[in-house]
Amino acid sequence: MLTLTAMRTQIGIIGAGPAGLFLSHLLARIGIECVILEHRSREEIEGTIRAGVLEDWVTHLMDELGLAERLKREGRPDTGVTFQFSNRRHHIDFIELTGKQITVYAQHEVIKDLVAARLHSGGPIVFSISDVALKGIDSETPAIAYRDSGGAAQELRCDFIVGCDGFHGPSRQAIPPDKRVEHDMVYPFGWLGILAEAPRSWHELIYSNHERGFALLSTRSPQVQRIYIQCDPHDDIAVWPDDRIWAEMQARFAFDGWKLAEGRIFQKNIVGLRSFVCDTMRYGRLFLAGDAAHIVPPTGAKGMNLAVADVVFLSRALDAWYKKGNRDGLERYPETCLRRVWKAERFSWYMTTMLHRNDAESSFERQIHLADLDHVVSSRAAATALAEVYVGLPIDP
Ligand code: FAD
Ligand code: DHB
Repeated sequence: MLTLTAMRTQIGIIGAGPAGLFLSHLLARIGIECVILEHRSREEIEGTIRAGVLEDWVTHLMDELGLAERLKREGRPDTGVTFQFSNRRHHIDFIELTGKQITVYAQHEVIKDLVAARLHSGGPIVFSISDVALKGIDSETPAIAYRDSGGAAQELRCDFIVGCDGFHGPSRQAIPPDKRVEHDMVYPFGWLGILAEAPRSWHELIYSNHERGFALLSTRSPQVQRIYIQCDPHDDIAVWPDDRIWAEMQARFAFDGWKLAEGRIFQKNIVGLRSFVCDTMRYGRLFLAGDAAHIVPPTGAKGMNLAVADVVFLSRALDAWYKKGNRDGLERYPETCLRRVWKAERFSWYMTTMLHRNDAESSFERQIHLADLDHVVSSRAAATALAEVYVGLPIDP
């Protein structure tokens, strides 16, 4: 007969991405217990290459939580970004417009810092689990059934379950489909992202609108650069040999008297772009946070920041529940998050449509996007509107 081992905690978290890990640190700070269940290994989550830009308040939050030691040393504070179009480059000065900046620091470095600190303080993260099933989410006694890395059946009983398991995880699917309200939009664009051993070519990020397609120049360190180009979302990476990638990048960033520095490409992959929101961020004793509840296209760098915002709101609501028995925050959790989520959705959709080449659009629509860019770089009001969302809207009410 199979034996089942049961464990108990206050908050059962599924997924050790930015949402789950930040939540565990925020809860530890206010004395609430949690366990994170993660289906990949520590090496895998620490090696997955994704985001790079932290909003101003996220950097401050990491500092407050005692997690910013390496970020301060290795992250690059950026005081603005460059928009390139029609053979021109324009600097948008975040400091001048908003008093705030962003920090370029890779998501997997954030993950490494949060995992190390959590494990160091004895906080449980259970890696390499499988067969996760959410039980009793509409009862007072929810639980997460799973198999541990050795294949043994386990159960984590808790007061609340938080689904931080990304877009493809099981948590959102545990909400009955007839109770879920969802909004979805898939773009006809993909991003081919590379990491290359090369020196920095420009002092800040460049977002380039080019007739051959969008391109984005970012960085990881003085020796490693992160660059993205728009491609067909269905492309096999095999149709993109390195010399084709560099030729395309040189074309899309071409600028008089300047050349993109090239080097050895050591990582490349393609992702599709989509916008998605599940308004039903709470169902009974299940809460969804981060990509489990919403996806933005990466143009504008909002996804990870939004995941952190969700769990800040959730930790405040859980604090009020455990310390004062006040359920209001928990009940209003979806409404509180969604106000920020929809603004980020709008911004990411706007940046994506303004900067990408869409062959389904008419020449009229293409000219409108160029006029929009021209407005952003020539009007202080338009630049400020863009900058205040880029650096991060305020997290406090
Ligand atoms: P995830 O990071 O997806 O984490 C979910 C975790 O749950 C994973 O570790 C997964 O293994 C685990 N999991 C899944 N299923 C299960 C299961 N069954 N059981 C247990 N665990 C499970 N955002 C920004 O803010 N700034 C940027 O600059 C930026 N750039 C991006 C560039 C690219 C190319 C891409 C693809 C994304 C970018 N993003 C950016 C978005 C950002 O990476 C995501 O929004 C962020 O990872 C969401 O965090 P999360 O914790 O919600 O989900
Ligand atoms: C990066 C990713 C983004 O989506 C973005 O808008 C800016 C920078 C990055 O990975 O560095």
